Amino acid sequence: MINFSNVNKTYPGGYLALKQVSFSLAAGEMAFLTGHSGAGKSTLLKLISMMEKPSSGSICVNHNELADIKYQQIPYVRRGIGMIFQNHNLLKDRTIFDNVALPLIIEGVSHKEIRKRVSTALEKVHLSAKLRCYPHMLSGGEQQRVGIARAIVNKPPILLADEPTGNLDPKLSLDIIRLFEEFNAAGVTVLIATHDLGLIARMKYRTLTLKEGTMINDGIVDGLQAKGGIDE
Ligand SMILES: Nc1ncnc2c1ncn2[C@@H]1O[C@H](COP(=O)(O)OP(=O)(O)OP(=O)(O)O)[C@@H](O)[C@H]1O
Ligand SMILES: [Mg+2]
Repeated sequence: MINFSNVNKTYPGGYLALKQVSFSLAAGEMAFLTGHSGAGKSTLLKLISMMEKPSSGSICVNHNELADIKYQQIPYVRRGIGMIFQNHNLLKDRTIFDNVALPLIIEGVSHKEIRKRVSTALEKVHLSAKLRCYPHMLSGGEQQRVGIARAIVNKPPILLADEPTGNLDPKLSLDIIRLFEEFNAAGVTVLIATHDLGLIARMKYRTLTLKEGTMINDGIVDGLQAKGGIDE
C-alpha cells in the first residue's frame, strides 16, 4: 500500500531530513513511526501525502508511483489518504458538523449524502451529541476525535496520523489508538507517528524507528529498544 525505495529528502538550505529510507507497509497493516524530535517522522508522512517531494528515490502509495503524478492529479491521490494532525487544524468559526463535512463538500457530494456520512463518522468517534458545537466548546481529546472523524469521513484506504495523542493523557491516548485499531480491523492501512514510547510498548505493533533521518529499526519493539532508538 505504501512503499519507499531509497528515499532521500533534502530541504531547501541543504538539510538532509531523510536518508536512503526503504520500507513497505502492506494493505491492511497498522504500524507506528517513532524517533527523536527532528528525526524525520513528519517529513516521511508529508512525502506520503504529497505535501513534500522526495529529492531522490521512489515512493508508491495506493498503486500510484508518486513521481508520475502531475500537479493537477494530487487531489485525487490525497483523497485516498486520511491525514490527522496533532493540532487538529479545525476551523474555529465552523460547527463540528461543518468541519467533518469539509472533505465531502470539496468533493461535491450531495447534501443528503453528506448528512449521512458525517453522522456515521461522528458516531464512530462517539461525538454525535456535539455536531452543532463549535471547536472551542470541546475538550482537547474531543477536538482530536473531530479531526479523526474528518480524516475518515470519505473512507480513505490509508490513514496517517502525526502525533495524534500528543496533548492527551494516557487514558485518552489509548482511546484514540483503539479507534485506529477499529479502522484497521475494517481494512484501513494505518501509520501513526508518535513519541509515546509507553503506548508503543503496550500495543506490540510493528514500529519503524527513525534516527537522524535513517531508518534504524523495523519490527515489534519492546520499551527498552524503543528508548535506545530515541535517547541516544
Ligand atoms: N520545511 C522545512 N525546511 C527546512 N527544514 C525542515 C523543514 N521541515 C522540517 N525540516 C527539518 O527536517 C528535520 C526533520 O523534521 P521533521 O518535522 O520531519 O521531524 P519530526 O521527526 O517530525 O520531529 P518532531 O518529533 O519534533 O515532530 C528537522 O531537522 C527539521 O528542522
Ligand atoms: Mg513531527
